[in-house]
Amino acid sequence: MRHLMSPLDFSVDELNKLFDLANDIERNPAKYAHACDGKILATCFYEPSTRTRLSFESAMLRLGGKVLGFSDAASSSASKGESVSDTIRVISGYSDICAMRHPKEGAPMVAAEKSFIPVINAGDGGHHHPTQTLTDLLTIRSLKGSLDNITIGLCGDLKFGRTVHSLIHALVRYQNIKFVFISPVELKVPDYITEMLRTKNIPFEEVIRLEDVMPNLDMLYMTRVQKERFFNEEDYIRLKDFYILDKAKMDLAKEDMLVLHPLPRVNEISVELDDDPRAVYFKQARYGVYVRMALILTLLELAQ
Ligand code: NCD
Repeated sequence: MRHLMSPLDFSVDELNKLFDLANDIERNPAKYAHACDGKILATCFYEPSTRTRLSFESAMLRLGGKVLGFSDAASSSASKGESVSDTIRVISGYSDICAMRHPKEGAPMVAAEKSFIPVINAGDGGHHHPTQTLTDLLTIRSLKGSLDNITIGLCGDLKFGRTVHSLIHALVRYQNIKFVFISPVELKVPDYITEMLRTKNIPFEEVIRLEDVMPNLDMLYMTRVQKERFFNEEDYIRLKDFYILDKAKMDLAKEDMLVLHPLPRVNEISVELDDDPRAVYFKQARYGVYVRMALILTLLELAQ
């Protein structure tokens, strides 16, 4: 039995197969409409979510399966003190596969160790968010044709943003990737990540001003300042609007540069950019359903 905890749990070859399957699902949805008949997905969300939970539910429903779950720790027995290990043992009897989001780093891993069904990490604290990374990679591969030869800017909250941490780990396995980290000093990418990049000889630079690097980027991954992970409100208020991507800044970018964002957006991308063909974040959210459909089929061993 296989779980998905980190974006590195699948090899590059396995990811290619997964993305081929996701593209086939996009082209031929009818072919998969009953692939999960009789199967149940549990969504155990101890932290707020719109896209991740609903895209998992949509994915299972589009495969012909059913869903159950909770979207708030307060409405689950966690509020009575139940451990995730106990919860997952019980959920294992109610469903065939589980997507779990938790504010504590490592909680889905603890669950996976006790589980009788595949567990998918749907975001654990500031640590990893592997299914968002699968979504990001599928978006890039589908729209650019390849995951190699990319200069990617990651902008915003690089300290707490788990989607950023997962995406960097996943991209280092491709050829000729350059990272440009754009953040205020307080929200720099953690040292363990820059150390990993140095060890692997992967080029990266760290800058504060977005305007300075805009013309060099093939891809810009914008992120929200992660309010819920701040220790004090004042720091959040000071940093929340540090970057606002607007038309003037986009004028500096390449004509085919893509703007991605895991969403939710707060102020970091002006709505005036939503009609720019380079702004692909809503398309990206749609890819999230196809890739989760492919993932559910793969973990349930129903993919041909
Ligand atoms: C992200 C998350 O939860 O980490 N959202 C998502 O799953 N698409 C990003 C965020 O909340 O900023």
